[in-house]
Amino acid sequence: MNKKLVGGDAHTVAMLSKIVLLAHMLSSLAIAASQDLNFIYSGFRSTNLSLDGSAELTSNGLLRLTNETMRQTGHAFYPNPVTFKNSINGSAFTFSTTFVFAITPEYANLGGHGMAFVIAPTRGLPGSLPSQHLGLFNGTNNGNQTNHVVAVELDTIRSMDFNDLDDNHVGIDINSIESVRYASAGYYSQLSDKLTNLTLISGQPMQVWMEYDGMEKQLNVSIAPIDVDKPSRPLLSLSRDLSPYLNSAMYIGFSSSTGSVYSSQYVLGWSFKMNGLAEALDISRLPKLPRLGPKKTSKFLTIGLPVLCLSLVFVAVSSVSYGIRRTRKFAEVLEDWELDFGPQRFKYKDLYTATKGFGDKELLGRGGFGRVYKGVLPISRIQIAVKRVSHESRQGIREFVAEIVSIGRLRHRNLVPLFGYCRRKGELLLVYDYMPNGSLDKYLFDQPAVTLNWSQRFRVIKGVASGLFYLHEEWEQVVIHRDVKASNVLLDGEFNGRLGDFGLARLYDHGTDPQTTHVVGTLGYLAPEHARTGKATTSTDVFAFGAFLLEVASGRRPIQPAEDVILVDWVFARWLGGEILEARDPNLGTDYVAEEMELVLQLGLMCSQSEPAGRPSMRQVVQFLEGDIPRPDISLLRLPASDLSFSRFDNFALSYPSSMGKSFSNLSVAESLLSGGR
Ligand SMILES: Nc1ncnc2c1ncn2[C@@H]1O[C@H](COP(=O)(O)OP(=O)(O)OP(=O)(O)O)[C@@H](O)[C@H]1O
Ligand SMILES: *[C@@H]1O[C@H](CO)[C@@H](O)[C@H](O)[C@H]1NC(C)=O
Ligand SMILES: *[C@@H]1O[C@H](CO)[C@@H](O)[C@H](O)[C@H]1NC(C)=O
Ligand SMILES: *[C@@H]1O[C@H](CO)[C@@H](O)[C@H](O)[C@H]1NC(C)=O
Ligand SMILES: *[C@@H]1O[C@H](CO)[C@@H](O)[C@H](O)[C@H]1NC(C)=O
Ligand SMILES: *[C@@H]1O[C@H](CO)[C@@H](O)[C@H](O)[C@H]1NC(C)=O
Ligand SMILES: *[C@@H]1O[C@H](CO)[C@@H](O)[C@H](O)[C@H]1NC(C)=O
Ligand SMILES: *[C@@H]1O[C@H](CO)[C@@H](O)[C@H](O)[C@H]1NC(C)=O
Repeated sequence: MNKKLVGGDAHTVAMLSKIVLLAHMLSSLAIAASQDLNFIYSGFRSTNLSLDGSAELTSNGLLRLTNETMRQTGHAFYPNPVTFKNSINGSAFTFSTTFVFAITPEYANLGGHGMAFVIAPTRGLPGSLPSQHLGLFNGTNNGNQTNHVVAVELDTIRSMDFNDLDDNHVGIDINSIESVRYASAGYYSQLSDKLTNLTLISGQPMQVWMEYDGMEKQLNVSIAPIDVDKPSRPLLSLSRDLSPYLNSAMYIGFSSSTGSVYSSQYVLGWSFKMNGLAEALDISRLPKLPRLGPKKTSKFLTIGLPVLCLSLVFVAVSSVSYGIRRTRKFAEVLEDWELDFGPQRFKYKDLYTATKGFGDKELLGRGGFGRVYKGVLPISRIQIAVKRVSHESRQGIREFVAEIVSIGRLRHRNLVPLFGYCRRKGELLLVYDYMPNGSLDKYLFDQPAVTLNWSQRFRVIKGVASGLFYLHEEWEQVVIHRDVKASNVLLDGEFNGRLGDFGLARLYDHGTDPQTTHVVGTLGYLAPEHARTGKATTSTDVFAFGAFLLEVASGRRPIQPAEDVILVDWVFARWLGGEILEARDPNLGTDYVAEEMELVLQLGLMCSQSEPAGRPSMRQVVQFLEGDIPRPDISLLRLPASDLSFSRFDNFALSYPSSMGKSFSNLSVAESLLSGGR
């Protein structure tokens, strides 16, 4: 009995120790399995990546991170967490990865914004932003040590805010979009050890290698075209222990973003190995990129070749004779500092083709700054409006172009998108998105053929208010529009009001003659203190917005020279008489909502006060219009007539005699300055 018991105990103990051993083996097996993660994807067909944003798998197995949508992020992550650190002493393991990518920009030299291989604590980096943040960070967490994000970025736009080197660089990012190591894209060829440049947005597939040595605590990054072996010398090398930056369990994948312009960013294949060297990708097995441009058939060779030979001779002859003329015709001014703005810079030749040689047929209109032409970009077929602004002085142009480029990043549904610019001698060309329904003033003044009904007008008003609010308060910097008025509000295909021309007045503020204070804006929209001091502020914009409100509601111009009537005075008089609704546009008939009309007119008066402090902010204006706060109380409003009468403009105009000869209506001071200067 006793013996048996002992025997039974021994048996149990043996069993138990076996189980413990088994459990231990299993757990160490599990650890080993997760530690030594090793995969190779030659194309991503039937893989289980976790995708978000614009990322998708195409039918032939390409991973397409971004599509043709602006300001998008796309993420693709390996679905399971990966153990990056030794659980005993917390040091980061050796790992290695390699992938093949391609970036095809929408225009040959214009693409946005880039992509990155990323190691992150979460799958999909929720809360991250597109554009310059590459879908990795946002304005709040960028640079924060609690991010635990390590990435290799392939950045194709130069972001001044983040001290980017250029618009074609590779960088190692640790917790911040400002890279700790970066270099222009290129590789050291194995034979000569010479650095050869690469263009990330060439549309050609390229391969990236990222290798971390956990013992040496060194991270190397290389890049090369796919027909070139891994460079013997890395492009970037960082000696740093990654242990403090990595959590034990991390996710690995890709992040990508577009901005004002887009590119399609693809990953063709990806290999990863923990504790070892990632398996080499077999380039021949990777999926094919979509073809660019039209297909060439073999027929082309048989018929095309002789034709080609003939045309070659023709081209050779004609190029000699036309060469000189052409160069002159398409001459541009391109200075070194502009190279930074590569993506936003258009070729004059392309714009010339797009607008059919700036023909009269394509002329959309002319304003104070110059003529505006309609065009269609070759290849992408995007409709554009090109504004030709003459600019004699070279002074300030650099700041202005920098500003244009930064403004080009602004995106809001109530702003006219600015695609970029081109510069010639004495001339600047600005390229905007084409607005099919033209400018708002055409629907308001001078017995228009088509007018807008009240609900359309009210929607335009709310839209423009939110666009201006965005410029003033919602963007990274305060942007002052300086020229808010009905003719600068354009209507898109859905009759949304969109503010155009922003920042343009600035060009003249940078000015020709530093002796005089330049006031740029349009009479009737110009706040008194702006006329006096020459300084534009957000409240001078609000003043102009007030004039705009009154215009849209009344269908009258802010100054009617024939009648010597100033619109604000006129509406104010109606209000004093207790009949503010009398100021409405007679063209509306009975189609209007009395409460909204009254709100718009009252708000117009409130914004038109001579005292800047009395005017509301654009935030308040939006709240009034949306009915979020009760309608403004304007019973105490003071609008001293003397302050708004012609005398103010007389004084002002005295210093610019050339403007006196012209009609006040719709005359921008900038124009008079310009014509005076020539
Ligand atoms: N993006 C655009 N899409 C379509 N039409 C446009 C576009 N930009 C301008 N236009 C047309 O060109 C005309 C001239 O525009 P522009 O902005 O130069 O003049 P303005 O606003 O009347 O005057 P100012 O230059 O003093 O602001 C506009 O009235 C509009 O019809
Ligand atoms: C791009 O991706 C976004 C997000 O998934 C989607 O809403 C949009 O329709 C896509 N656009 C195109 C042109 O495929
Ligand atoms: C794909 O990954 C997700 C997330 O880990 C998982 O829930 C799902 O079961 C996986 N599907 C397949 C087919 O592996
Ligand atoms: C952590 O442990 C591993 C093996 O267990 C060892 O190779 C490595 O050197 C250790 N790291 C540190 C910082 O002690
Ligand atoms: C920024 O990203 C972090 C981390 O993903 C997120 O928690 C935070 O809400 C984001 N902030 C903003 C302002 O979106
Ligand atoms: C970093 O992020 C953490 C957590 O989100 C936050 O508490 C901390 O204030 C941030 N630090 C800085 C410097 O922004
Ligand atoms: C390569 O690129 C760098 C940085 O843009 C530039 O300075 C250099 O001149 C380029 N070299 C060649 C051979 O194009
Ligand atoms: C990084 O590159 C250097 C220089 O070529 C090399 O000595 C080192 O072994 C490399 N380290 C890794 C982790 O590949």
